[in-house]
Amino acid sequence: MSNTQDLVLEIKGLKTNFYTYEGIVKALDGVELFLRRGDTMGLVGETGCGKSVTARSILRLVEPPGKIDEGQILFHHINPETGEIETVDIMEMSDKEVLDTRGASIAIVFQDPATYPNPVFRIGEQIAEVIMLHQDLRTDVLDMKIEKLEDTLEDKIDPEKRGKIEEKISHYKSLYDDPPDPDDKDAKAAAQRRAISMLAMVKMPAAASVANQYPHELSGGMRQRALIAMALACNPQILICDEATTALDVTVQAQVLNLLNQLKKQIGTSIMIITHDMGVVAETCNWVNVMYAGTTAESCATQVLFKTPLHPYTAGLLTAVPKLHENKDRLPQIRGSVPNLIYPPSGCRFHPRCDYATEICKQEKPPLEEKKPGHWVACYNPLG
Ligand SMILES: Nc1ncnc2c1ncn2[C@@H]1O[C@H](COP(=O)(O)OP(=O)(O)O)[C@@H](O)[C@H]1O
Ligand SMILES: [Mg+2]
Repeated sequence: MSNTQDLVLEIKGLKTNFYTYEGIVKALDGVELFLRRGDTMGLVGETGCGKSVTARSILRLVEPPGKIDEGQILFHHINPETGEIETVDIMEMSDKEVLDTRGASIAIVFQDPATYPNPVFRIGEQIAEVIMLHQDLRTDVLDMKIEKLEDTLEDKIDPEKRGKIEEKISHYKSLYDDPPDPDDKDAKAAAQRRAISMLAMVKMPAAASVANQYPHELSGGMRQRALIAMALACNPQILICDEATTALDVTVQAQVLNLLNQLKKQIGTSIMIITHDMGVVAETCNWVNVMYAGTTAESCATQVLFKTPLHPYTAGLLTAVPKLHENKDRLPQIRGSVPNLIYPPSGCRFHPRCDYATEICKQEKPPLEEKKPGHWVACYNPLG
C-alpha cells in the first residue's frame, strides 16, 4: 500500500452485517480501501453493493439490526496542536470520541436531505451553530471588535477620546494570542458572519440573504450547496459525499462537483465521492475504488481504470456506461443478477457472473493485491 504519510483513511477487512428476520445480510465482506491526502476518491458500484453502509461504518453510524463485526478504520489525522500525523482506529474510539470526530474531522453529506438542513431553522443559523461548536472564533471576534472601534474613531476629533479608543484597540490586538473566551457575546455574531462567508465560498448567489432563508425556500442545487457549506464549516480533514449530487440535474451536479474540487485545494480536505455513476467518477475523481456485493474489486487511478481495468466486473461495468451518440436499443449488461447477500456466492462473490471464473474462484475469496504498480485488484484471473 502507499506510504502511510500520504494516507488519511485506511479501511481494513471491514465486515458489517444486518441481523434480520430473514437471515444475516452479509452487507460488507472484508472491504479494503484507502484515501490519500488531497485526493478526490470515487467509491463506485451498483446500487446495493454497500457504498452507503461503508460510509456509515466509517463514522459508526450503522444502526441496528446492522453491526460492524470486524475490521479496522484507521484515521491518520493531523493533530491541530502539534501538526503531527496521528493514527487512531475509529472502531476503538469511545462514543464521545466518535461524536467529536463526526462533523469536526470527518463530515458527511447524504443524498437525501430529508432531516437536514433542519427545516425549522434558517440556513445561516445552522451553519453558525456548526461554527460555534467546532471553530475557534477568537480571531473573528477580535477582528469585529477592532473594526467597530476603528469605525467610531473616524468621527472622533477630541484627542482624549481618540486616545482611549486607540488604547482599547491595542488592548484587543494584544489578545490575539490569548486563549479564547467561550462566553463572548460577539462570538455568535462572528459565527453568523463566517457562515455568510462560507455560503459565499460555495458560490451561493446572494449569500447574505440566503443565510436568512429557510431550507424549503431554496432550490435543490442551492440546498446542496448549503449542505456542503455546513459540512465544510468545521474544516474537516475528510468530506464524504454519499450520492450528494445524484438528485440534481446534470449541469448543477457538474457545477457542485467542480466546486468541491476547487474547495479541496483551498482548504486541504480529502474527498470521497460515493456514486453509482461512472461519468461522475471520470469527471471529478483522481482515484477510484470499485465495489461489488460488499467487497472491494479494484482500486487505482481513474485514467488507469478507464483504460485498462483488471477486474472482469469493472470491464463489464464500463461497457455498460452509455456513450454519447450511441444509439442502441439495449445497453450491454453483465449477465446474471446482483447476488442475495443473505446467501452470497462462495469464494469470489462475482464468480457466478464471470466469464473468466475458474475452480479457485468458487472456493476462495480473492485477496486485494497490487497486481501492477499502483493498481490493486481482487481477482484470480485478472484481465490485461
Ligand atoms: N437496514 C438494513 N437492513 C438490512 N439490510 C440492509 C440494511 N441497510 C443495508 N442493507 C444491505 O446492505 C446492502 C448494501 O446497502 P447500501 O450500502 O445502502 O448500498 P449502496 O451501494 O446502494 O449504497 C444492501 O444490499 C442491503 O442488502
Ligand atoms: Mg447508497
